[in-house]
Amino acid sequence: MFNKISLRSTARCIKLKTMPSPLDWISDELTHLREESLYRDSRYVTALGNGRCQIDNAVLLDFGSNDYLDLATSIALKSAASEAIQKHGVGARASALVSGMHPEYQTLCRTISQFEGAGDALLFPTGYMANVGVITALVGQGDVVFCDRLNHASLVDGCRLSHAQFRVYPHCDLDILERELNKVTDARRKLIVTDGLFSMDGDLAPLPELWELSQMHNTMLLVDEAHATGVFGEHGRGSVEHFQLEDKPIIRVGTLSKAIGCLGGFVAGSRELIDYLRNISRTQIYATGLPATLCAAASAAFDQVQSNPEARQRLLANANLCRTELERARINFAHGSCGPIVPVILSDAGLAVSVSQKLQEAGFFVPAIRPPTVPAGTSRLRITLSTAHTNEDIHSLVSHLREVL
Ligand SMILES: Cc1ncc(COP(=O)(O)O)c(C=O)c1O
Repeated sequence: MFNKISLRSTARCIKLKTMPSPLDWISDELTHLREESLYRDSRYVTALGNGRCQIDNAVLLDFGSNDYLDLATSIALKSAASEAIQKHGVGARASALVSGMHPEYQTLCRTISQFEGAGDALLFPTGYMANVGVITALVGQGDVVFCDRLNHASLVDGCRLSHAQFRVYPHCDLDILERELNKVTDARRKLIVTDGLFSMDGDLAPLPELWELSQMHNTMLLVDEAHATGVFGEHGRGSVEHFQLEDKPIIRVGTLSKAIGCLGGFVAGSRELIDYLRNISRTQIYATGLPATLCAAASAAFDQVQSNPEARQRLLANANLCRTELERARINFAHGSCGPIVPVILSDAGLAVSVSQKLQEAGFFVPAIRPPTVPAGTSRLRITLSTAHTNEDIHSLVSHLREVL
């Protein structure tokens, strides 16, 4: 009896060793990614501030970060964060609703709602989670959500997860959007979602027209200000301020990870909207809140945005200089680019990677962006400017880029 069992288990072991693993498909997928030049390697980058970073012991001019106002390594943010860490420790210990709403959290909510001129604000662990959490709270089954084709993945994922009917319209194509809106007659609720400043193309959404359409069709409008907060508008409030639409009930989602130099996401709007989201939004309820260090640093960053408009002006001037220099060098960039994101479209993924690599060897960090982040055939270099770049930095980048191309 004993022998029979051990014989059976030995036979099973031999069989298991020769059987394929259910995870074998992963190596095929990785091979495919490599063949298509779509494989992503880990890259470790040390931020040095002042428009510089370090990769593999080399100091590079950094044209690959979203730290537009050079705040991430600033003394103001570092001091605020160290003070908060001494006072409150490292983690937030629980979700905001349970016990994670510490005093720094409260201060940041107040700072953001004052900055945005909104009734209230709500924080999320990341901007990605803010988009997913807000969209899924606003629409669900029986609703329709309209999404620009080039919207950020977090907006797309929010639309998909919401279970609302999901309609994608071509980039900024208001005629098709209107046609789609006209087709919907029996939805419970409708929502249009758009990037304010498109993250990979660097162009602004036509917000006045989107607002008008949303009004005509009794549809909610959500604008993701991820790349516009701290950058656009007289006071740096983003694309909604840029287009003077601040008095409209537009839902404004933002991130603390780009011009604000920290990590986290937020939504600003009326007290009622925020009250509703606080009760319903799953990515806010079921995730640990933002720690005090980040909240304190983000509050300090909003102070900087408000007290130093020159940083924003310098950033936009740098971006304009970059576009002028590219034009002069006859290097094509995305024609709608109007802020700190300047994409140079190279189409082929392999070419984008090799140009990025050559620039890195010459002392410039400019990442290659490939599918699925951008549509197939539109791989590109994504140049992002910082307020800290000098004219010399920009001239030097463009002249090396011309040489490499
Ligand atoms: C347009 C846009 N929205 C949202 C996000 C997500 O923000 P976070 O990085 O804070 O999660 C990003 C980040 O890349 C983005 O580009």
